[in-house]
Amino acid sequence: MKKKKILFVCLGNICRSPAAEAVMNFYIKKNKLEDKIECDSAGTANYHVGEKADPRMIKEAEKRKYVMSSIARQFNPRKDFEEFDYIIVMDDSNYENILILDDKKAYTSKVSKMINYCSKFKVSEVSDPYYGGEKGFNLVLDVLEDACQGLIKKL
Ligand code: 4NP
Repeated sequence: MKKKKILFVCLGNICRSPAAEAVMNFYIKKNKLEDKIECDSAGTANYHVGEKADPRMIKEAEKRKYVMSSIARQFNPRKDFEEFDYIIVMDDSNYENILILDDKKAYTSKVSKMINYCSKFKVSEVSDPYYGGEKGFNLVLDVLEDACQGLIKKL
């Protein structure tokens, strides 16, 4: 069977989506699904292209043993809509930003929100932790762990 390709998307690609990629890679490995699922991440904005993830996000993720190695890149509508099977966004603003780029409305069915895969957390989005403290980064990881386990089950 063809490998399923997931792209996690947030605004800057330095906090939430690279953390989603790291958490998902952990569960892919744990469930021995490396030959069935792969994931990547991107941002809708270009502010941080070429940078490593935010050190605050890396610090909290590493405490939980997640490996955050991604380098920020911007979502590329000419390639990414076609290449990925699932485009999973962190918040409503990311959702709007991605759908605007799909000018022919050909890929809407590929786009979903990360919180839709949660079973424990009843939150409306994976909130942007950039302007907050350590608590926000840990909440991001808690929600991502819940969602990634749901995603593994769905796939
Ligand atoms: P992310 O967080 O979208 O989870 O990577 C942010 C990163 C950078 C900015 C905002 C949010 N920024 O304004 O630079």
